[in-house]
Amino acid sequence: MASEKDPLAEIQELTERLNYLNFQYYQNSISDVSDFEFDKMLERLQALEEQYPELRQPNSPTLRVGGTITKNFKTVQHKYPMLSLGNTYSEEDLREFDNRIRKAIGGEVEYVCEQKFDGVAISLTYENGCFVQGATRGDGTRGDDITANVRTIRDVPLQVHGKDFPATFEVRGEVFLPLAVFEQLNQEREEEGEQLLANPRNAASGTLKQQDSSIVASRRLGCFSYGFYSTPNPFETHAQSLEAIKQWGFKVSDTWRLCGNIDEVLAYIHEWEKRRFELPIATDGVVVKVNSFALQDELGFTAKSPRWAIAYKYPAESATTKLQGIQYQVGRTGAVTPVALLQPVLLAGTVVKRASVHNANEIKRLDLRLGDTVLVEKGGEIIPKITSVNFEKRPADSEPILYPTHCPACGTELVRAEGEANYYCPNEKGCAPQIQAKLEHFISRKAMNIEGLGPETIEQLYRLGLVKDVADLYDLTFEQLLTLERMGEKSANNILAGLEKSKEAPYERVLFGLGIRYVGSTVARKLAEQFTDIEALQGALYEELVAVNEIGTRIAQSIRDYFSNPEHLELIQRLKAAGLKLKSEVTAPVVESDKLGGKTFVISGVFQTMSREELQRLIVLHGGKVVSSISGKLNFLVAGDKMGPAKLEKANKLGIAILSEDEFLQMIQ
Ligand code: IVH
Repeated sequence: MASEKDPLAEIQELTERLNYLNFQYYQNSISDVSDFEFDKMLERLQALEEQYPELRQPNSPTLRVGGTITKNFKTVQHKYPMLSLGNTYSEEDLREFDNRIRKAIGGEVEYVCEQKFDGVAISLTYENGCFVQGATRGDGTRGDDITANVRTIRDVPLQVHGKDFPATFEVRGEVFLPLAVFEQLNQEREEEGEQLLANPRNAASGTLKQQDSSIVASRRLGCFSYGFYSTPNPFETHAQSLEAIKQWGFKVSDTWRLCGNIDEVLAYIHEWEKRRFELPIATDGVVVKVNSFALQDELGFTAKSPRWAIAYKYPAESATTKLQGIQYQVGRTGAVTPVALLQPVLLAGTVVKRASVHNANEIKRLDLRLGDTVLVEKGGEIIPKITSVNFEKRPADSEPILYPTHCPACGTELVRAEGEANYYCPNEKGCAPQIQAKLEHFISRKAMNIEGLGPETIEQLYRLGLVKDVADLYDLTFEQLLTLERMGEKSANNILAGLEKSKEAPYERVLFGLGIRYVGSTVARKLAEQFTDIEALQGALYEELVAVNEIGTRIAQSIRDYFSNPEHLELIQRLKAAGLKLKSEVTAPVVESDKLGGKTFVISGVFQTMSREELQRLIVLHGGKVVSSISGKLNFLVAGDKMGPAKLEKANKLGIAILSEDEFLQMIQ
């Protein structure tokens, strides 16, 4: 009889092996085993941990996917206070800093220059090489214990590699949301009619405080480590410690440099002032640190910051101007958002006339009044924002800005749902900007993609009373179109052809085009997969909706609200009568096995033994799904010959399992 392995021994073995393989992969770009084998081991570990939850190791690689819910974060005391840095914007101050240090030390000093990453500071505690605690900075003395969330960040090793590390030590670093992820998140929010995230730093900070660590895992946060703390400290210099922690498996940005004197420091600063935009994260300056730990100890601290380090900040691109007015914009979901109208001013090479103020709370927070002299800044944000008011320059007779109680466009009383920052105009059927924005959304590229129609034509069509909702578009006649300004026969025909062609758009795009709040293109696709025609979706219960992966309570409620409005049901009937697709084309395939149950695949390249179509059919026959683009949620990339290097790189970056043709065939055998 084959002897059963001791589950603890097997769990420990798998944990250690997988952590080592991860280290090799992420740190050294070496794949010691195939992705398939790796996944098998990970699955085995997962199964064992499920069976014996008490045996799960604190450094288990399965913790990367999250799943822990923390209701209230525990407060923890920092062993080494998390201080801030002295700041300067001038080279003169830097030379003074250097003079002061050389005077105190009585000789030349070496510095390490690093990027000042604009993220969220974090402290990571290790015991016997195992990650045991992640904490926020808090007030510098006490922070929040966010260990479960930090475990999902792949740049933070759960088990330190090698042997030459102290029994207990701490590493400090900066957690960030990569710019590309930030842009993607905001794009999704825009589609869903949600408020945009102001900047990557806020987004990273908000993500770290999520109660559900699987959400944190899905955001793909990064972490650059830049500090080492241990008593006694086994290293002589900061540079040595950076090299060592990198070997141990921490992600250290390769941008740091050892500088022999202040001129070299300044050269580094000048070089990176331009190059900083090459990085995956926003930086706002350079941190200059004395390299020798002994000298650092000698120099010591002031109450707030170390004397041995300073941050040189690149001048924030800002300008002073006057607030001339506030315009209230009504979006397609009826959300009313304020936009500041400014006296035109030059900022970062462009003339700025408008700035974002986000919402009513922000007006209050800034204590903004008309006629105020304000500071506008252009940071990582999309459009410039007002960051402060110069109260000394406030005119004596200034009046506070009163947020409108009624819609600036149609006069309907605004509503504000509990817990929402935005006010909404509920007059969906009669509020011009809302209707026009809905029409524009419907014809947009990602929705019905109606060629020949643009915002100006939509505006005219609405103004002339020819189109009041999206279904009216399909009743337009050639003669009606000719009544528009600057509309020739050719353009009118183009529009009619564009409308006709849009009837071929798949169900998921029509669904997205309806503009249901919180239903962006990804959610629309999900819905179309699960509820294969509009009647099924219409009849879906709240419970059935939330049961769908990635559909949360808020989306489910919004869908229920939408379909409980008889006017919406009538609109859908009219769209159906016009010939739009309101059901999925692909009928559910006969499933041969469930070996790939629920897994997603991207197919790329050419294959030896079968065509791409055959491969696609095999995936579906075995319960898998084929998707077109690589995202963090993807399970497998099936790679054939001649696949594009960009795809491969993206998949590698996101840690997606890559299968060869053979490995794929093995999976379904
Ligand atoms: S060292 C005692 N190095 O800047 C000094 N900080 O103003 C410890 N930061 O809270 C910080 N990049 O969040 C250090 N390369 C870097 C940094 C860095 C960004 C942040 C960090 C810290 C703040 C200090």
